[in-house]
Amino acid sequence: MQKIAVLISGRGSNMGAIIQQSLTGCLKGLCRVVVVASNRLDAEGLTLASRYGVPSICVESKDKSRKAFEGELIARLLAFDVEWVILAGFMRVLTSTFLSHYRGKVINIHPADTVQHQGIDGYEWAYREGLEKTYITVHKVDEGVDTGSIIAQAPVDLKGANSLAEVKQRGLCVEHKFYSRVIEQVLREECVAFLE
Ligand code: GRF
Repeated sequence: MQKIAVLISGRGSNMGAIIQQSLTGCLKGLCRVVVVASNRLDAEGLTLASRYGVPSICVESKDKSRKAFEGELIARLLAFDVEWVILAGFMRVLTSTFLSHYRGKVINIHPADTVQHQGIDGYEWAYREGLEKTYITVHKVDEGVDTGSIIAQAPVDLKGANSLAEVKQRGLCVEHKFYSRVIEQVLREECVAFLE
């Protein structure tokens, strides 16, 4: 059973889906979410994690240098023997301080095609551009902003979506299923980049 940490900054709906899949779905028997870590004390996802009985920690990033924050985060994760770090709405760019410790083992989900749009507000971008289709991207994390190698992408049909809320709702619905499936393939070392 591989031990994963899920890093969040807010709502944590992807985190909830991953925990659920690890308990009863495609990740069952493959991995366990041993800890949820937030860089913000007010992250709603912390409450959700405790409802699942998953330990959570908060290492606040505010007013800390990146080096100090990441050093503290590594120290806290070490106590849980974490092997994989799954970012799910974690709103901090990680530097080599953290990434060299978990080299190749940090994964992120981005609500757009990372080739076309990096950074925040992926759904706002898709809505503004009037896209009929957008892509959710799961990628390895490197020191850049959404520049790591793409593991897999899934399309979101946006035809007829006439509000930003609708775009987000359709996208999140795909994210919640897709992320766990990709994590499953990565952990089974079966994953090559694919579009579905
Ligand atoms: C998701 O859209 C994810 O793709 C992006 O941030 C959002 C997090 O949502 N990285 P949640 O916290 O998982 O609900």
